[in-house]
Amino acid sequence: MHLKGKKIILAVTGSIAAYKTPELVRQLIKSGAEVQVLLTEAATHFVSELSLATVSKKPVLRNINDGATWNNHVAMGRWADAFIIAPCSANTLAKMANGMCDNIVLAVYLSAVCPVFVAPAMDEDMWKHPTTQSNLERIKKFGNSVLPVGHGELASGLVGDGRMAEPTDIVTFLAKHFESEKQKPLQGTKALVTAGPTYEKLDPVRFIGNYSTGKMGIAIAESLAANGAIVSLILGPTHLRPSNSNIQVVSVESADEMYDACLSRFEDSSISILSAAVADYRPEQKATDKIKKKENTFQLLLTKNKDILATLGKQKKKHQLVVGFALETSHEEAHAWEKLKAKNADMIVLNSLNDNGAGFGHDTNKVTLLFANGSKKNLPLLTKQQVADTIVNQIIEALHVEINH
Ligand code: CTP
Repeated sequence: MHLKGKKIILAVTGSIAAYKTPELVRQLIKSGAEVQVLLTEAATHFVSELSLATVSKKPVLRNINDGATWNNHVAMGRWADAFIIAPCSANTLAKMANGMCDNIVLAVYLSAVCPVFVAPAMDEDMWKHPTTQSNLERIKKFGNSVLPVGHGELASGLVGDGRMAEPTDIVTFLAKHFESEKQKPLQGTKALVTAGPTYEKLDPVRFIGNYSTGKMGIAIAESLAANGAIVSLILGPTHLRPSNSNIQVVSVESADEMYDACLSRFEDSSISILSAAVADYRPEQKATDKIKKKENTFQLLLTKNKDILATLGKQKKKHQLVVGFALETSHEEAHAWEKLKAKNADMIVLNSLNDNGAGFGHDTNKVTLLFANGSKKNLPLLTKQQVADTIVNQIIEALHVEINH
């Protein structure tokens, strides 16, 4: 089992099982990994910082900032190939389930874009408590992997469930994870997805928006991530969120903000899928005070937003794939082909509002895929996740063809 070259963050929290972590670090390093250890305050009662620093050959981090030095938890979350919390106490688990962030472990957890593994350790009664079990279910839903607890002698002197997985089993678990990751077709590929509507502010309380919910784009991000991609999801205002921890959500409001978020990430992205319903225009003036009603009519001057898809299409290099969406109500295909050409896209996903079950808010969609080489594919009415999977499979095929040429 090898972890050669893998960057692993090990977060140690307050449980007696913390005494096993120097051995865990030793085994991780022996398998070829580079290990950064994080320690909560409670963990320091069970294991020494010096032991962990010595075996990991790196300073251990205990705080978000050390004096005037800020430990960049965001950079750390992006550096790691895997983040493991072992042992994970009931307290840390509860905080993870609720998005709390009062120490470095939680700050890195919330910033992590890599897979997260949790090896819980606690006494059996705590383990079996309904809150613990519900917290576990919650963090699993967020996309984290929970390692099974062992059965045996516990700190209380009782015998039961709740022991932290043994260091050897943790190392095997991680190695198996990386082994299976290797087989994913988009493993490590960076992807950019836009989704949802944009809101264009008129004044402090009003905006021009649209009915997009972001469902289709979120499904695409999920499908890319399930195939191993590292996804930046630039998401307009919507209450929906993805669940896969390989998806980094960047929340934006206006088309301008979405443009900036996309442009700063485009160079690194091999795949860009622009499914957002970007407002074509924004009010020329943004009133600083609420606009008062006066006359019977009210004229609004709008100015064109920058076209993200067209900009990326223009900038794209040979190894980059850019996919756009078209929502049409008449002469659908002709308009979509024009869009593909004008915006230099590799693929256009054509949505027709004339199809029942397609469009904003529905769980289903009926689309036609148009490709730059002139071919097209009509898909039947499918769930949005099935449409997303089909789009992503087409991309995998296209990338494969490119690699083999
Ligand atoms: N798009 C974009 N930036 C914009 C506008 C649109 O990236 N400012 C993208 C959308 O995300 C989508 C595609 O372009 O992938 C849609 O093309 P667009 O020309 O906006 O379609 P419509 O708004 O329907 O245009 P028209 O009104 O001209 O049909």
